[in-house]
Amino acid sequence: MDVLDRLRLDVPVAQAGMSRIAGGRLAAAVASAGGLGTLGMLSPPELRSAIRRIRDEAPGRVVAVNVLMPFAHRRHVRTCIGSGVDVVVLGFGGNAALVRELHDAGVFVLAMVGTRGQADAAVAWGVDALIAQGREAGGHLVGTVAAQDFLAAAIAAARGRPVFLAGGIATAADTSVALAAGASGVVAGTRFLLTDESAAHPEYKRRLLAAETTLETTVFGFGWPARHRVVPNAVTERWCRADGSTRRLPAMINSISKPVARLSPDNSEAAILRLQRPTLPLLSPVAPLEGMPDTWIDRAALYAGDSVLRIPGITSAKQAISELAGP
Ligand SMILES: Cc1cc2nc3c(=O)[nH]c(=O)nc-3n(C[C@H](O)[C@H](O)[C@H](O)COP(=O)(O)O)c2cc1C
Repeated sequence: MDVLDRLRLDVPVAQAGMSRIAGGRLAAAVASAGGLGTLGMLSPPELRSAIRRIRDEAPGRVVAVNVLMPFAHRRHVRTCIGSGVDVVVLGFGGNAALVRELHDAGVFVLAMVGTRGQADAAVAWGVDALIAQGREAGGHLVGTVAAQDFLAAAIAAARGRPVFLAGGIATAADTSVALAAGASGVVAGTRFLLTDESAAHPEYKRRLLAAETTLETTVFGFGWPARHRVVPNAVTERWCRADGSTRRLPAMINSISKPVARLSPDNSEAAILRLQRPTLPLLSPVAPLEGMPDTWIDRAALYAGDSVLRIPGITSAKQAISELAGP
């Protein structure tokens, strides 16, 4: 069966799960417009209410949830299964037992991968489809080369399973190029962050629109010392070298901070950012959300992909879908 039919999509466009930036409002708007709306990982009660919102506002569409493995607990998986979600997108990890459990509950499972080795592993777990992420993507990176350069290897690893391409998707032309190269669809994060319905802080959105470059760094790595792509702010000015690499002190602190991720409670974003300072090398992965003070923009990660340099402004999610899908 064609994956667009299987996922009940009108267009081959998916919105990436982006933690609390991608709540029910954004995912429901994308799903209503015929794309794959994906909830970012929220606390179980918030997930349940966001899932209800998608069902109310986008009846007949699938409900998809991103399970962000470094932070996921059993309660998140139980909530997805208990709420009967249709699709789970595994990010930054996974395993065969989890995929089997999701399959037993009738869930369609995608995994985001960035190397041939990761793609082979995800296929061995039994996933239904891959998302091939390129290095130009926003947020955390598994991608090590440009998305278009990785796509062929991902398709070969997928052995007939659908492959979606993530990274560098800002226009219908980008989607066309990906489809022509064999992708079944595209995944966009930054483009959907820059919509009315995303929960990113308004000043964060403005900074993205004004950005002249992005940086690949590990500076916001306290609790999750992985590579990520951001636009510059006071933190990167203070703690990154010109090429984005992280200066010694925060790099050292981040490298021993991994156990913190599994301890951080749900809904702790504001409490964490309240303590964070651009001058203090304890820099968590939390991004600034609407409702937080404007002054927090310079202490938090402003995730964005290279595609940000080609996105002219903020639109509705529906408009973003039509711009990405084309005529
Ligand atoms: C603000 C932001 C937050 C993200 N958060 C997540 C996340 O929680 N889980 C995940 O699997 N991917 C996350 N990503 C990565 C996306 O899945 C996707 O690979 C990326 O957005 C594609 O590149 P683009 O932003 O240029 O479209 C995030 C990306 C952005 C921009």
